[in-house]
Amino acid sequence: MRAVLQDRYGPPEVLRVEDVPLPTPGPGQVRVEVAATSVNLSDWEGLVGSPGYARLGGLRAPRIHTLGSDIAGTVDAVGERVTRFRPGDEVYGDNLRMKGGFAEYAIAPETALARKPPELSFAQASAIPQAGAIASSGTRGVALGTRMLINGAGGGSGAFAIQLAKQLGAHVTGVDNAGKLDFMRSLGADDVIDYRADDFTRHGPYDRILDLVAHRSVFAYRRALAPGGRYQCVGGPVRSLLRVLTVGQVAGLLTGRRLGVLMVEEGPAAFEPVAARCVAGDVAVHIDRTFPLDEVAAALTCVGEGRARGKVVVEIP
Ligand SMILES: NC(=O)c1ccc[n+]([C@@H]2O[C@H](COP(=O)([O-])OP(=O)(O)OC[C@H]3O[C@@H](n4cnc5c(N)ncnc54)[C@H](OP(=O)(O)O)[C@@H]3O)[C@@H](O)[C@H]2O)c1
Repeated sequence: MRAVLQDRYGPPEVLRVEDVPLPTPGPGQVRVEVAATSVNLSDWEGLVGSPGYARLGGLRAPRIHTLGSDIAGTVDAVGERVTRFRPGDEVYGDNLRMKGGFAEYAIAPETALARKPPELSFAQASAIPQAGAIASSGTRGVALGTRMLINGAGGGSGAFAIQLAKQLGAHVTGVDNAGKLDFMRSLGADDVIDYRADDFTRHGPYDRILDLVAHRSVFAYRRALAPGGRYQCVGGPVRSLLRVLTVGQVAGLLTGRRLGVLMVEEGPAAFEPVAARCVAGDVAVHIDRTFPLDEVAAALTCVGEGRARGKVVVEIP
């Protein structure tokens, strides 16, 4: 089978497409003939080896050689003790632990996968698991009138988060680069801010901040929070996340605000509710571009350089 391989961390040029042996599913695992794999910022981070948490699976060199977490395709073989799927089943899920989606076949634990709703295409289904789970966790507790700010709102998770927050009745402010302001408005954002021209921490105050790309100081975040407000970050440089976990928690508590890192749940329970909303037509899946397997490097660059409005998908016919 053809697979996109990476032996070291680095720019997209370290990737190559090669023929490799077909993998065999172990106990509890299934082999999926991949039809589509969406790109997440976590894939780009796994390519370049930064932020630091991207190297948890291998400090000097990646232990997993094929990236691609969010897969959708058809089960073509099952390992021992697999009970939920059999060959021919159409599935999708976030294969965050094993990855391997940028290939014609991928091995995944059956627990990571769900049955693909027939109403969704493979490309649409692949776009949902990781970004949908982040958006769903990050908007939990949002209610009518909540003043919510989403930083990095024009990307994969943000596009879902804006829609979910609006449906919960929030007043949503989306922050991203100038090229994504109209896109965020089209998703329902009430206000938009270009982060290169304006500092969102000097606006507000906000009851909730969901930060997909934490770069600022905890004091700046605290300043933007209303009393009783809550800031949650999902990704960003390790030093920013550590500051939120340490100084942020204390600074927040002392002033009646909460600052923390959002640990997103994994597995179908985290993303299936979002897929159900997509099937119902309440939430739209926004795919900016699709790329063939040979152009995974370009697909990753599109996300890594922040050019994607919503999701980018690699399709394998
Ligand atoms: N905590 C967890 O359990 C967990 C689980 C899975 C993933 N994650 C993390 O979640 C994060 C978000 O992933 P994603 O796939 O949604 O990302 P994405 O699609 O790339 O979206 C991020 C958006 O933020 C924008 N951006 C970059 N720098 C910014 C800044 N300083 N201010 C405002 N916006 C900025 C980007 O555009 P520009 O670059 O053009 O500005 C892009 O539109 C990743 O870091 C990933 O590792 C966390």
